[in-house]
Amino acid sequence: LRQMKIINNIFEMQEFSRQYQCQNPHKKIGLVPTMGYLHEGHLSLMRTIQSSCDCLVVSIFVNPIQFNNRDDLEKYPRDIEHDIALLSGLDVDILFMPGEIDVYPKGVPEIFMDYPKLTNKLCGITRPGHFSGMLVIVHNLFQWVKPDYAIFGLKDYQQFILIKKMIADLAMPVKILSGEIIRDPDGLALSSRNVRLAPEERINALVISSTLFKIKREFKSGKNQAGYLKKILHESLHKFKLDYASVYDTDTLVEFGDNDIIKSGVAAVAVFIGEIRLIDNLIL
Ligand code: PAF
Repeated sequence: LRQMKIINNIFEMQEFSRQYQCQNPHKKIGLVPTMGYLHEGHLSLMRTIQSSCDCLVVSIFVNPIQFNNRDDLEKYPRDIEHDIALLSGLDVDILFMPGEIDVYPKGVPEIFMDYPKLTNKLCGITRPGHFSGMLVIVHNLFQWVKPDYAIFGLKDYQQFILIKKMIADLAMPVKILSGEIIRDPDGLALSSRNVRLAPEERINALVISSTLFKIKREFKSGKNQAGYLKKILHESLHKFKLDYASVYDTDTLVEFGDNDIIKSGVAAVAVFIGEIRLIDNLIL
């Protein structure tokens, strides 16, 4: 295993990448951006990107400007010691953990990055500012780390689409890879927020993945009318506070109308299990 170096300073990170690229012009840097409290989902992103890159950088930064809710930011789980122990078992070259004061020297930045047609739906409705904050930090991480490749999990499907769009629009020299959703054996999609679920809530949360799997089975068996699939979603999840649950175009995220016949799409859900808001999706 390679020796992992921890870098906290933005300029040191830039200098590392600059030197690495000068000394190894044909080698590739890969970046896995995270907010820590790492789980198997993150580790699988690292394993996936490893086959495309020679130098693996993992970043941990709980980005305050992408939390639209103070309570969610304060309660966001953190365990750096455990994260470092997990990363030590993988071939990670750099753990980049910038401090908040370095990332946002002027406090909350005034810049706002948006794709109104993509953020006026799904998570964008109830999390105003979230995607702007996410795009700003991803853009900045790319500036500092200068990766050739970066990978994002498909659990945050809307995030993934937005990042791809930003890369294309700004012609950023980084290739974006995606990681499949990793689930516990009972189906629950892995999320750092899952630790906040009480045992009973965790059991209740299984309805999310089981409903998505049911929709996929129905779709595969030829029942591909959007209204029918949406009805299954709403009926199975009716006991919970729903943020959204529907079937959307995989690229534009436009919701299908009830009478639409679906050839491909993504079924996506955000639901409150107790106080914890969980998201999940399945590509049809
Ligand atoms: O998906 C996440 O963990 C975050 O949104 C990201 C991409 C690390 C940006 O803070």
